[in-house]
This record gives sequence, structure tokens and C-alpha cells, in this order.
Amino acid sequence: MKRTKIVDVLKSTVCDIDVLVKGWVRTRRGNKMVSFIALNDGSVIHNLQIVVDNNNFDEELLKKITTGAAIAVTGRLVQSQGKGQNVEVQASSIEVYGTADVETYPLQKKGHSLEFLREIAHLRPRTNTFGAVFRIRHNMAMAIHTFFHQKGFFYFHTPIITASDCEGAGQMFQVTTKNLYDLKKDENGSIIYDDDFFGKQASLTVSGQLEGELAAMALGAIYTFGPTFRAENSNTPRHLAEFWMIEPEVAFNDIVDNMDLAEEFIKYCVQWALDNCRDDIQFLNDMFDKGLIERLEGVLKESFVRLPYTEGIKILETAVANGHKFEFPIYWGADLASEHERYLVEEHFNKPVILTDYPKEIKAFYMKQNEDGKTVRAMDVLFPKIGEIIGGSEREADYDKLLNRINELNIPMKDMWWYLDTRRFGSCPHSGFGLGFERLLLFVTGMANIRDVIPFPRTPKNAEF
Ligand code: 4AD
Ligand code: MG
Repeated sequence: MKRTKIVDVLKSTVCDIDVLVKGWVRTRRGNKMVSFIALNDGSVIHNLQIVVDNNNFDEELLKKITTGAAIAVTGRLVQSQGKGQNVEVQASSIEVYGTADVETYPLQKKGHSLEFLREIAHLRPRTNTFGAVFRIRHNMAMAIHTFFHQKGFFYFHTPIITASDCEGAGQMFQVTTKNLYDLKKDENGSIIYDDDFFGKQASLTVSGQLEGELAAMALGAIYTFGPTFRAENSNTPRHLAEFWMIEPEVAFNDIVDNMDLAEEFIKYCVQWALDNCRDDIQFLNDMFDKGLIERLEGVLKESFVRLPYTEGIKILETAVANGHKFEFPIYWGADLASEHERYLVEEHFNKPVILTDYPKEIKAFYMKQNEDGKTVRAMDVLFPKIGEIIGGSEREADYDKLLNRINELNIPMKDMWWYLDTRRFGSCPHSGFGLGFERLLLFVTGMANIRDVIPFPRTPKNAEF
């Protein structure tokens, strides 16, 4: 007999047929006569109830069916008499693939803290919570690919190993095959990379944008979707050293087109989650975050506020004048902290905000410079409970202005000549942005810590598993 997944068994409209199901035991309860096994195979949050007439089975076999064990069950699918499920399976044969020792299997009882589960990240996908989160994670990836594919964007693979620092923030992890105990240095004390694997200093990418721009100037509209790496020492609930980013880049789009795309894109993803992950989201809503579904639906209803940075600062300064306390000082020129972003979104406007036209000093070199000489055509999308979920901009398309900015910031030309070539040959207005995949997942799942929406989080002092 072919195995049926539990998600399909539970949807079955016919009864009194034989089925074969396989999965992991969540619980076994019952009495001398009968056992009830809650079986889960990861295909859906719900368990399938297996009813076992103990008299028909060997006692030694039944003893092995404990929480965590992997089993196969053949039996009759019947309408359930009990509460909590429509159908159940009356077992006719059971095979135990792998036992799970009652004394040592860590997921014995329910109600472990998320902190504890992080320490057993190799097992936590077997919990309801992480099953839900990782099914949603998959669904969001599908939503993203579908959205861009339907719009005629091409999925473009940018390199993971690179020699250029896109964001210019100096937060790159180096990639080397050099013997770190025996580094050759020149007379100035600088490391010699000539004999290193790439013949120069190389790193893990912080963003695929620069290469994405090259592609947009040829294919018109592209997006990347891959891992990115940042050696920023931020131990916060919103930062990872390894995270996934989606970066669309579109030729001939200006900043307004870019904002329209970002808003449509996020709403599409949220709608997809509500349409395709209802059971998992309902579970997370009930268990962790009673406002989750309301917040997701709220975002779909509202048009995002579009506000220049300078106006945003005025609102924040007014809040301070009226007695609101922020941890970090706020003034024109300051980079917004998450508390400022969330004040605008959650307290002042009560809907998502796209903040534009930031001071050029706090943004990357590639952003289009405004006529005022002070600001650039940046856009950050700020979300309730998250703060910044998207960062993007219209790009500086003018060769001389871009070169000036590169020189002002002392960015080495050896890293940038190829990027500048796009502005020498057929330059055009273009725009793009980056969505942090895990920040989107924080929003959609309602989880509070970014370590709980990626299977194996990498953060300062932690690269376990
Ligand atoms: O704002 P960022 O740094 O922008 C860029 O990297 C641009 N090159 C994107 C572009 O225009 N193509 O990062 C983009 C997004 C942020 O808004 C945030 O959601 C996420 O990436 N992000 C992080 N997510 C988790 N951990 C971190 N350390 C993150 N840093 C940025
Ligand atoms: Mg940013």
C-alpha cells in the first residue's frame, strides 16, 4: 500500500477505506484495553488519531510507541466518535521504525520555552510551533517567486563570495584559505593576499544589489533571493549574521514606482499567508500573539503612509517635546533606531510607513542624490512590531555624481570599476530594494525573536548545528 500524508488523510471525504500513514508519535494515552496515538508527519499542524485495540498487539511492541518514536500504521479510516477530530484510524498493523527513549528524548512534555528550544534546534522542528513556522517559511518563499515570476521578473543568481562591500559598512566576513597562524605581511604590515585562493581579499556578500543592478540593465527586471551575511555585532531580536534577502531591481523605475512595487509585494505575501497557511497562523495567533491575524488583515486594508525623513523627524521631535521618552536621541541627521520607527508606525500613524529622502550621510553610496545636496532618494518600509522590513532606493544613474560620492567615501576603485561601467554605457534611471526574509517572517508568524524564524540562527558567539 502507498503511504498517504496526514494532511491528505484529514481532508479525506471518503471513509471506511484502508490507509497507510507514517509519522512521529506526539503522545500516547489510554487504558489497558485501548491506546490513542496522536501521530504527526509534519505535513500539517494537526495530528491524526490512531486507535489501537491493545489486545490485538504484542505488549513489547506497544511499549516502544512513546513520544518521539517513528512508526508506520496501516488501518481503517473511520469517522471519529470522539471530540477534536472528524476521522481517525483503527490500527490493524503497526511497525516501529525508531524508538525514542522516554528518559532522554527532550521533547517529552509540552510547553518548553522558546529559549530552551533554541538550544535543541536540531529537534525543535518537531514541535507544533516550529512546524508551523517552517511551513510558513516555505510558503513565503513560494509566494515571493510566484509574485515576481507573474510580473515578468527574472530570478538572477548573484555571487555569495565577493570582493566588494555593497553597503560600505565594513561588516563583511572574510573568505580565505590562508594559514591564519602564519600570515605574510608587506613592509607596512598589511596582509599579502596575492597567494590567497582568490588572489585578493574576498568576503561573503552583504547584498546582491550591485550585481543585481548589472542584470537589471540587461534583463529589465530581476530579483535575487539568497543568503547574505553581516558581521555586525548586534545581539537583538531583529538581527542575524546570516539572513536571506530578496532584492528586486528594475530598470526605468523611479522612487515612486519602487514604493508601489514594495507595497504591492508585501501585501501579496501577507495575503498568500492568510490564504495558504491558515491553520498554522491560527495556531500561532492563539498560542503567542492574539493580535496576529488582525494585524495581518490590517496591513492589507491600509495604504502605506509615504513620508519624507525630515517630516518624520519633526513628528518624533514633537513627541519628545510632549514628554515621550526614547532611549536614543533624535535629531535631523540621526539614523532612526527601531524605537523611533515603531513610534511612527504603531503610535503616530497606526499603519505601515515608507520613509523617504534620508540624509546622505546615513545611507549607502549608490543612492540617487536629491537636488537639495543633503538627502538621497532612499526608502525604508517600516512595519508594526518590526521596524525596518525593507530598505531600498532609486539609484544614482549619473556617472560623475556617483564617482564623486565613491571618492568622497574613499571606496577603492579596484572594487567598483565594473559597477561604474553601467553608468558609462547606457545608464538609465533604475530602482530596487531589499526585503529581509526573516523580518517578513517575524511579521507573518508573530514570533518575537528572529532566531525563531530561521532553522539554524547564526548570531554573535553562536554557530551551533
Ligand atoms: O537596508 P539594507 O542594508 O539594504 C541593502 O542591503 C540594500 N542593498 C538592499 C537593496 O536596495 N537592494 O538591508 C535590506 C533589508 C533590511 O530592510 C532588513 O529587512 C534586512 O535586509 N536586514 C537584516 N535582516 C536580518 N538581520 C540583519 N542583520 C539584517 N540587516 C538587514
Ligand atoms: Mg537599511
